[in-house]
Amino acid sequence: MTNEYLLKIMKDIKATAPDILHSENFIQSDNNMQHGNISVMKHSKKVACTALAISRKLKLKCDETAIMRGALLHDYFLYDWHTPEHAGFKNLHGFYHPGIALKNAEKEYDLSERERDIIQKHMWPLTLVPPKFKESWVVTLADKYVSTTESFHFIKAAKARKEKYAPSKEPIRIRRKEKYVTLHRMS
Ligand SMILES: [Fe+2]
Ligand SMILES: [Fe+2]
Repeated sequence: MTNEYLLKIMKDIKATAPDILHSENFIQSDNNMQHGNISVMKHSKKVACTALAISRKLKLKCDETAIMRGALLHDYFLYDWHTPEHAGFKNLHGFYHPGIALKNAEKEYDLSERERDIIQKHMWPLTLVPPKFKESWVVTLADKYVSTTESFHFIKAAKARKEKYAPSKEPIRIRRKEKYVTLHRMS
């Protein structure tokens, strides 16, 4: 995808969902991390762009409004799932957050049946009941693709940081009483 193509897609999303993009809760979700150092807000925008691109490239004749709005709200759970009260096995964030996101989105927006299905089923197969519409399948696929690339980039960046700041194994040579002495590092 060229930058020009992505800009066109982002322009269409801005024109279709200005109410969501400028809402307090959506902007606030930029403080909640999703994968690595990517916020929920940025992740949701990326999923919307990717889903729309898939639909257009494959000429699926989808309801594009549902794809854009459903994708922007698919992770509208409005908390940081890494904090102690939300993390951990007992909270089962992966299983429950689509339902929480749907409840939050319904409080603020008048959702279509397709948009509701996109939000509710995007974690399939964790949600057991499969997506009902092609728009939901497209967003589910886009979400998995974007999540995988975000996690992969984070792991790669963390590995590069570790290598950059790892203590040197090279011995230090210092001059002592006109002689050179070699000191070996402990680690
Ligand atoms: Fe999600
Ligand atoms: Fe997501």
